[in-house]
Amino acid sequence: MALLEIRNVTRRFGSYTAVDNVTVTIEAGEFFTLLGPSGCGKTTLLRMIAGFDLPDSGQILLDGKDVVGTPPEKRPVHTVFQTYALFPHMTVADNIAFPLKMAGKALPEIKARVSEALDGVRLSDFRGRFPHELSGGQKQRVALARGLVNRPRLLLLDEPLGALDAKLREEMQIELINLQKEVGITFVFVTHAQNEALALSHRIAVMNRGSVEQIDEPSKIYGFPENRFVADFVGKISMMSARVLESTPSHLKLEVSGLGEVVTVGKEGVKAGDNGLVAIRPEQVRISHASDEPQLKNHFLGKVHDFLYVGDVTTYIVELSNGAYIEALLPNSAPGRAKFYDVGDAVAVSWRHDAGIFLHE
Ligand SMILES: Nc1ncnc2c1ncn2[C@@H]1O[C@H](COP(=O)(O)OP(=O)(O)O)[C@@H](O)[C@H]1O
Ligand SMILES: [Mg+2]
Repeated sequence: MALLEIRNVTRRFGSYTAVDNVTVTIEAGEFFTLLGPSGCGKTTLLRMIAGFDLPDSGQILLDGKDVVGTPPEKRPVHTVFQTYALFPHMTVADNIAFPLKMAGKALPEIKARVSEALDGVRLSDFRGRFPHELSGGQKQRVALARGLVNRPRLLLLDEPLGALDAKLREEMQIELINLQKEVGITFVFVTHAQNEALALSHRIAVMNRGSVEQIDEPSKIYGFPENRFVADFVGKISMMSARVLESTPSHLKLEVSGLGEVVTVGKEGVKAGDNGLVAIRPEQVRISHASDEPQLKNHFLGKVHDFLYVGDVTTYIVELSNGAYIEALLPNSAPGRAKFYDVGDAVAVSWRHDAGIFLHE
């Protein structure tokens, strides 16, 4: 049986539907992420799982039991917020002990569990400090320890790394993965940052305007987005309108107006005459000199419109003969060599047939 089942849950605020008929099933031990732009309903959904808010319709089942009538403090669920929500007048140890005291645990057990929790987040030396004496990352680790100390069935994390700078954020991502593995508690993690979702999760639900667009493993979400929203929101992608000329199990032959034929892998449910988009990830696109011999079936001439150097890689934006732009990503692996092509250079872009994705409009 699944640990958490969200069945057809809807939540309206006046005439606005913040969560629209959402169905999600989460297994015990999963690191599950709700990913979507600001305002898409992630926090509203999380608040209903925690019990701070109630659905207008639908069910939320924990271990198969409907929890809609159960108040938040009676649910085996804890929430960690971006703002940490630590008690400022309590030490680190007392903050972590708080849920255990509320649950009426005996003092020796509280002591043992607090020490264990402090160890888990590597804060044993900070037990006597107050929140204002800690860095952002340390505060968030206290909040995590406090969330885990009562061994909830489910830990809900609402953009917990949102207030941290990029480097610290990356360190905390690694800590979070390890922590979740160690404690084995199911995490439902909320973020609007697609790279964070890809890095952390076993599975991701991509949300848009209150609805779930796709639920899959990170590599499927990235490599096989099911629609334009998911393709566009997760990672970078170039898209062009395309019409299906031929559909077989192994490949699709597409017509891209003003450009010519593009071949992609076969896809179920696609037939000749369908209209849609062909989408290609920048790291799948090769860029070469216009005069180089074509190596791949999808090979088109264009010119460099612009490029963006970001240190490890350079992204070239190439304008094709039909006026469409396609991005090609080149790693800057040779020292000192950051620019292979210049704006205006005549180049060729090419990609393998299995790199292109056809999406219905
Ligand atoms: N208590 C509320 N009253 C009215 N509107 C709300 C309330 N809570 C959230 N909303 C609206 O519901 C939508 C989803 O909000 P939220 O769940 O916070 O999104 P996210 O966490 O994905 O950014 C937003 O448009 C927000 O303004
Ligand atoms: Mg939110």
